[in-house]
Amino acid sequence: MADIIIREMHEDDIPEILRIERMSFPTPWTEAAFINEIYKPYALTRVVLQKNNVIGYICVNRVLNEGHILNLAVHPEFRRQGIASMLMQELLKELKNKGCRFIYLEVRVSSLGARKFYERFGFKVVGARRDYYQSPVEDAALMMLGL
Ligand SMILES: CC(C)(COP(=O)(O)OP(=O)(O)OC[C@H]1O[C@@H](n2cnc3c(N)ncnc32)[C@H](O)[C@@H]1OP(=O)(O)O)[C@@H](O)C(=O)NCCC(=O)NCCS
Repeated sequence: MADIIIREMHEDDIPEILRIERMSFPTPWTEAAFINEIYKPYALTRVVLQKNNVIGYICVNRVLNEGHILNLAVHPEFRRQGIASMLMQELLKELKNKGCRFIYLEVRVSSLGARKFYERFGFKVVGARRDYYQSPVEDAALMMLGL
């Protein structure tokens, strides 16, 4: 896809991010949650821009040799075009360079598309977290990738 830029998330991006967030999740993150990620010292945030519009984003935390993917979404009109894959490739490379050996994430057990996406990167289900999500209440699958 042409005119794609990946850069760090800024506060100015948040209104566009929140629109995508609401289209992507039943319990979307708030503005405060994204601000928290932008300024946390151990967080990595990225947005994908196309013609200066935010079309995807990722938030990851890193503690010692573990990374934790907290949020990843792509605007519905831009899905299945490799946008999330670009974000993941960039973040996995950076996490590896910073010494990460294990990447974890939680995903709704019913989010089969997202689970397929992560499996394509080599993530495996290593556990479950009961009633991890609200509205609707649902278990999370805990997935892990060794780098
Ligand atoms: C999951 C998500 C981030 C994927 O973004 P994307 O930009 O569409 O992903 P990509 O185009 O890079 O997909 C790469 C591959 O992953 C798999 N994949 C992605 N979405 C899929 C889906 N809905 N169903 C089945 N496989 C899927 C496919 O193998 C795909 O390759 P292909 O299109 O050549 O078949 C996006 O669907 C999304 O934002 N979903 C809502 C939010 C969400 O569930 N986030 C993750 C939970 S934390």
